Amino acid sequence: MVQTEAENIEVFDLNSYLKERKILVEKALDESLPMGKPEKVYESMRYSLLAGGKRLRPILCLASAELTGGTIEMAMPTACALEMIHTMSLIHDDLPAMDNDDYRRGKLTNHKVYGEDIAILAGDGLLAYSFEFVAVNTKNVDPLAVIEVLALLGQTVGAAGLVGGQVLDLESEGKPDLDAETLSFIHHHKTGALLKTSVLSGAILAGTSTKIKAKLAKYAENIGLAFQIVDDILDITATQEELGKTAGKDLKAQKATYPSLWGIDESKRQAQELVREAIVELADFGQKAEPLRAIAHFITNRKY
Ligand code: FPP
Ligand code: MG
Repeated sequence: MVQTEAENIEVFDLNSYLKERKILVEKALDESLPMGKPEKVYESMRYSLLAGGKRLRPILCLASAELTGGTIEMAMPTACALEMIHTMSLIHDDLPAMDNDDYRRGKLTNHKVYGEDIAILAGDGLLAYSFEFVAVNTKNVDPLAVIEVLALLGQTVGAAGLVGGQVLDLESEGKPDLDAETLSFIHHHKTGALLKTSVLSGAILAGTSTKIKAKLAKYAENIGLAFQIVDDILDITATQEELGKTAGKDLKAQKATYPSLWGIDESKRQAQELVREAIVELADFGQKAEPLRAIAHFITNRKY
């Protein structure tokens, strides 16, 4: 927080916050996965895990834990696991059998560097390790809360979450006239599910009440959908340099997106409305929820 002299109002400095949290998360990620044998697969896992990115999922998990009375220390293993899962989903998403992409986070995709076989196995390795990492490294938390987080992670990555969303996403290629309901289902599962779990897991580890978890779940559902709508918009409006990945892919794959269904301006309006609704859910938390409010705004204003 910085004080503005004129009005003596505390203004939350999101840029400094995100920068500081990203450094903290990246240090933890680097330490979470030391090199091992066979070296090739560890190198491949570390290549993608440490390739940068916004680190939004771990940052949300830490922010939610702190908001609900927990600490960074108790949530960091889960925060790392969320990034391991996100990273593995992108390694697999980029494979020739799926989106066949050459660039991710400004670097060559995993399979371009290590080959498809190792990329598949590196993804599998990261997924398995994410669960092990939470179970082994979470300290000073009720073991039942750790089990709840592990179950939630499983549900989030499986056919009821990311995998299910990805299946429909792949099937939707070449169907620009897909209905809005299916598109929203894809967005909620492919992207929204892990963002929601990021927020909820922090609160679970902190031992939060069901009532507060319900408010945070609504906040997270709204920012999750807004995030993917903005992703759809950026695919049209941003450059490859800004995104660190190929731009204009949705149009090429003839994919239905929010902009293709509603137009860019209406999609922006819908994303902003979702963020407004998300922020309403944080009303009871006062100043403490400023990081989550600022992150919600960042999601619609981001350029990458
Ligand atoms: C990127 O979407 C892809 C995802 C958000 C998730 C992909 C999910 C899978 C490959 C399933 C992974 C398996 C497990 C077990 C979790 P996009 O292609 O729209 O965005 P992009 O432009 O960044 O590639
Ligand atoms: Mg993709």
